[in-house]
Amino acid sequence: MTDTDGLSGMTVVVTGGARGVGLGITAAFRAAGAEVVACARREPESLPEGVRFERVDVRDADAVEDFIGGIPDLDVLVNNAGGTPYLPVGESDVRRHAKVIELNLIAPLIVSRAANRVLQRRPRGGSIIMIGSVSGHRPSPGTAAYAAAKAGLENLTVSLAVEWAPKVRVNAVRVGMVRTEAAAAHYGDASGAAAVARTVPLGRLADPADVGAACVFLASPAAAYVSGAALPLHGGGERPAYLDAAATATAGGAPPDRRDDAWREDDA
Ligand SMILES: NC(=O)c1ccc[n+]([C@@H]2O[C@H](COP(=O)([O-])OP(=O)(O)OC[C@H]3O[C@@H](n4cnc5c(N)ncnc54)[C@H](OP(=O)(O)O)[C@@H]3O)[C@@H](O)[C@H]2O)c1
Repeated sequence: MTDTDGLSGMTVVVTGGARGVGLGITAAFRAAGAEVVACARREPESLPEGVRFERVDVRDADAVEDFIGGIPDLDVLVNNAGGTPYLPVGESDVRRHAKVIELNLIAPLIVSRAANRVLQRRPRGGSIIMIGSVSGHRPSPGTAAYAAAKAGLENLTVSLAVEWAPKVRVNAVRVGMVRTEAAAAHYGDASGAAAVARTVPLGRLADPADVGAACVFLASPAAAYVSGAALPLHGGGERPAYLDAAATATAGGAPPDRRDDAWREDDA
């Protein structure tokens, strides 16, 4: 990325910008010439050069007000902090599910609200980017509260894009599987991750840098007319499971012949 992306001199806040996907976002904005403030609950051991760090729990509305209110030159907010452990709804304490929803839906609302107050006062406005997930668009057994929160986050995105226009653009990145330090917890060891990668049409999991590049685009002048959008970033998505199940169940493993009596050859 270069200054031609129009981000040079801009100030960007990345929640959870100290590791995993967030670190990829932080690094991409730094490479594009922006000033970056990353926040998380724990101080990281290292960060890309020039990145400022603040300890903030994004679920704490008062702390968030102080943090964001102290950045009057804010241009871009990326709501990245989020995630979930494996948590089947029937098997765990209901308060843990509420906490997952708090982190993945309520906290982005809290931080966005604080950021909007600052951005509305900026002569050139600004932009807010939500880090969503493909989980919000499909059944997610074991992470149902997380998926429901991510679905809600996309609806929050479209509503805020209308409420806060024209000064502030609000968009989401609908992220698929990402190769992070913590990926093993979700996708297994190296061979598990490789097997999972083979299910992705583009043949690999995303890198945090891929998510960073999408965020830089959405924050840049190139996306000046993009608001209320959710950008899928999943390497082509998920091949429907029934296709493989049908092929496996059919003799010889060939795909089933889907022609039926209602479909005449000359319709094709
Ligand atoms: N990894 C994937 O495959 C994947 C796929 C789709 C979407 N995503 C999304 O990408 C985002 C980042 O995921 P990740 O895998 O990079 O997660 P991660 O490795 O667990 O990193 C999460 C970051 O958020 C911070 N954080 C967590 N709770 C916080 C809180 N209450 N207040 C402030 N900061 C907090 C963490 O730092 P502290 O713990 O020190 O606070 C950390 O820096 C999430 O929104 C996730 O839903 C990830």
